[in-house]
Amino acid sequence: MNEPLFGIPNLDGYIVIGIVLFFSLAETIAGYLTASKRTFGDWIQEAGGFIALSFIYKPLIVFSAFYFGGSLIPDVQNYVANSNLWAVFLIYLLVDDVLQYWYHRFGHEYGWLWKLHRPHHQAEEMGFFVSYRNAGLYYLLMPNIWWVGLVVFAGGAKAVAIGLIVKQLVIIGSHSLVRWDEVLYKYKVLNPLATVLERIIVTPAFHYAHHGKSMIDGISDPNGNYGNMFSIWDQMFGTAKFTRRYPSQIGLVNDPKDKWTASYFYPLIASDKPGSEISRGFKKELTTKLEPAVCEFAAGEKYLWCRCGRSQNQPFCDGSHHGTKFKPLLCTSKRDGSTKLCQCKLTNSPPFCDNSHSAAS
Ligand code: FES
Repeated sequence: MNEPLFGIPNLDGYIVIGIVLFFSLAETIAGYLTASKRTFGDWIQEAGGFIALSFIYKPLIVFSAFYFGGSLIPDVQNYVANSNLWAVFLIYLLVDDVLQYWYHRFGHEYGWLWKLHRPHHQAEEMGFFVSYRNAGLYYLLMPNIWWVGLVVFAGGAKAVAIGLIVKQLVIIGSHSLVRWDEVLYKYKVLNPLATVLERIIVTPAFHYAHHGKSMIDGISDPNGNYGNMFSIWDQMFGTAKFTRRYPSQIGLVNDPKDKWTASYFYPLIASDKPGSEISRGFKKELTTKLEPAVCEFAAGEKYLWCRCGRSQNQPFCDGSHHGTKFKPLLCTSKRDGSTKLCQCKLTNSPPFCDNSHSAAS
């Protein structure tokens, strides 16, 4: 179980802590942390999340894999112990990352899982520690951590140790305020390298877009760019957006600012903030109306039309689509004047009303 990497006990753990310290030092030197908007609760949640994930959840899950694996699938124990290290490493990493892609995507598309992942998006600024803020239960249910347990049980501890180091480097790097990819877009000679890298791994620009507050800026896509280490899954499954720019606003629209205790311990502790998605009895009701809304726009004005039918500000998006499979439609008005926008969400020419509501009434 404790097969040391390159003969040095716990080397992978030291390197991961080293990566965290490296990015924290880089952000401190760059002065980002002194200008940080983070509250005490944010720090507790992020640092606590890192400690819980590294020293409680992962060891607990690996222990459980041995406990249950030993009686349920004893033949699998040490099955890959004598296999080629790099082949095991590659299989471990690819399976791990595709599992995490889908888990993360479901975290945005299903309401119950969104409530556990939502703290990750309540951060109003990026930073190396943001990658560790989720509800505790989100980590316990994470399929790729159970995959780690299975691979270790099968004798692939070394491959897992190397994989964790590489993964943490990319994931912490994509959340960090140190935007290491910026230089690749700035100098033309480096652009081809940027193209190769961004098509394989998750860069800060790619992941910042996922944390952007709203698609209205033309950069953000909180309902896309779900990849953790590799961007290839987003390209394969149609959720990739490459802009090579960084959104100026990070976080959630209409954030009720839940206490960190509720964010971290939900559903054991619910939020006391009225209207919070993690308050007791909260329900996301449909807000569709049969009649269209008449809206005034200037030519070139951008707006987000609500597709999910749950916005409290119909016909526009207010972020209520989080936890559903919908995302808003980014529109640009072609002319000055009034336009009838659909509110029944049955239109065949979104965002405009095409009288489909007449058939429904
Ligand atoms: S609230 Fe955003 S699509 Fe409905």
